[in-house]
Amino acid sequence: MFSSLRGYNRFVYISAAVAALGGLLFGFDTGIISGALLFIRDDLELSAFLQSAVVSAILVGTIFGAGGTGPLSDRFGRRTMAIVSAAVFIIGALGSAFAPNVETLIGARVVLGLAVGASTVIVPMYIAEIAPPQIRGTLAALFQLAITLGIVMAYLVNYALAAAEAWRWMLGLGAVPAIILGLGMFFLPDSPRWLVGQNRNDEARAVLQRARDSEEAIDTEMEEMQEAERRQEAGLGELAKPWIRPMLIVGIGLAMLQQLVGINTIIYYAPTIMEATGLGASVSILATLGIGIVNVIFTAVCLLIIDRVGRKPLLIVGLCGIIFSLALLGFAYLLPGLSGVVAYVTFAGLLIYIASFAVSFGVVLWVVLPEIFPLKVRGSAMSVCTILHWSSNLVVSLTFLPLIAAIGETAVFWGYGVISIGALAFVYFLMPETKGRTLEEIESDLRDRAGASSEQTSQATS
Ligand code: BGC
Repeated sequence: MFSSLRGYNRFVYISAAVAALGGLLFGFDTGIISGALLFIRDDLELSAFLQSAVVSAILVGTIFGAGGTGPLSDRFGRRTMAIVSAAVFIIGALGSAFAPNVETLIGARVVLGLAVGASTVIVPMYIAEIAPPQIRGTLAALFQLAITLGIVMAYLVNYALAAAEAWRWMLGLGAVPAIILGLGMFFLPDSPRWLVGQNRNDEARAVLQRARDSEEAIDTEMEEMQEAERRQEAGLGELAKPWIRPMLIVGIGLAMLQQLVGINTIIYYAPTIMEATGLGASVSILATLGIGIVNVIFTAVCLLIIDRVGRKPLLIVGLCGIIFSLALLGFAYLLPGLSGVVAYVTFAGLLIYIASFAVSFGVVLWVVLPEIFPLKVRGSAMSVCTILHWSSNLVVSLTFLPLIAAIGETAVFWGYGVISIGALAFVYFLMPETKGRTLEEIESDLRDRAGASSEQTSQATS
């Protein structure tokens, strides 16, 4: 019964699940700091500036991790880089747990960021390259599901260890899933597509033999991959080629907009937002846990339907929900000072926001990014997009509280609402649907379209 879940091979599910542990670490390591910070602050006697340095150090690391990993994973393979990133996760977690002073702690959090950034490049790509097209969305969505589970795990660990004020344990526990990730990836093969890109066709076929059930499907897939490989040139220069440009714009746009709609104002600051409506600290923390759980549930819903409904319709519906909830959140702060009503409307707004994000942008970004780029530049293109993704995250996280102080909650939430309307137009007009097609079909379609439009241009100019 286990050998074939929903008609697909068990090996691909295991490979995707192991790689997705990178997402669990991403969620855990970014989520754990909000709770740990309260105790680090007292223990190491941190100023406000050093506190924000401890929090944002990880984001600085992610930008470099995301940037370096793409070209390295094109060169050395997805699997090798996943193992290296697991080792970096372990060093970062233990370095934070044993940090004798704040400088070491900040350094260790930057190191952790390197691994978190790396995971956003390697994991979606590895899963997309090993998955059969019919369930590629569901499998790649495991990454986002793991991120959301990691965030909830962090909230729970924070809650469980708060009484003991055990911040070193909170930070150090991240080493456990990292060890499992490293060991798991050690026993898994590299992605068949990367192997074909290295002319290691026999090894690629051997992987497909474990990952597919029919010999015929393997032959077709090998042929498609080798054909795509013959048409490719490697190197960063390829990224600037006109036929790749439209997809680079789509990838960069999606990667930045997923952050610029304001998701992490809620993930990082939900207790602060709730407290500002007049609720006590402990109710606010409980409400935050509720938000984390809704995030997991709606991510799971997305995972189950993404290969049937498609990426684009989900994103359009989700963005409509995001726009509505941001309008509501802005409106809540205009209500007269009845703190009870404001708190309820705000909580409702936060829940609708997180459900809409989870069922759409959260998953769709990580599914679509590796799908829209051709094999030879996939890693480098993912790097470009994820560098901008993490930079946007840093900008939003650092500006949220100062912006509220300067222009108030209503203007800030409506501002994110306006960006979300822009995101909706961007998705509607520019994003292609990638559901159900092989990565090679998507790529060849891209070439054909680019060819057609350059022919049109040359006809028009002649
Ligand atoms: C984003 C994170 C965000 C998380 C929320 C991820 O896709 O990259 O920035 O915190 O979703 O679930």
